[in-house]
Amino acid sequence: MKVAILISGSGSNMVALAESMTGDHPARPCMVLANDPNAGGLARARAMGIPTAAIDHRPYKGDRTAFEAALLEPLLTAQPDIIALAGFMRVLTPDFVGRFEGQILNIHPSLLPKYKGLNTHARAIEAGDTEAGCTVHKVTAALDDGPILGQARVPILPGDTAETLAARVLPMEHKLYPLALRRLAMADHTPITLP
Ligand code: GAR
Repeated sequence: MKVAILISGSGSNMVALAESMTGDHPARPCMVLANDPNAGGLARARAMGIPTAAIDHRPYKGDRTAFEAALLEPLLTAQPDIIALAGFMRVLTPDFVGRFEGQILNIHPSLLPKYKGLNTHARAIEAGDTEAGCTVHKVTAALDDGPILGQARVPILPGDTAETLAARVLPMEHKLYPLALRRLAMADHTPITLP
């Protein structure tokens, strides 16, 4: 199976996914695609020998349909079986999601259904929650929705800031996402709970 990984930033989840796809793993990364030509993850992907492409969303000035038409081109060439969003910070339209129904995965830095959208860690701290975490789910037309494949939890400690909490959650993302991808690629639908 071929996996396209979509990123916007440093790509640490992309690296965790790509490094997991070796040996008897049924999938391999076929490309890393970014919406920002300066995304740090592009160089990391190239260093791992993965083909990369960048479609800068900014010239499209909010025209999501035109941006996605451009995004689609390299994907239609690569023909991925799975599209893994790994810190990809553009909302995809229902039309785009519908083209790849059931094939798009996302990792979100909260215990969904709590805290869809942005600033998840700050909102969890502000709400007085005692735990936070991350969720891998299949992408549907609704934002940060869709069937959950797995979650990982961490405690929220006294004095935590959004930054210290993010630093506790991110290593769990790097464990959860590869596990969830492997299970999906092996058609194993057992939900994952970490730790
Ligand atoms: C990760 O924490 C990921 O969960 C989050 O962005 C970060 C990307 O880090 N994704 C979202 O907020 C999606 N709405 P990375 O580029 O180092 O993988």
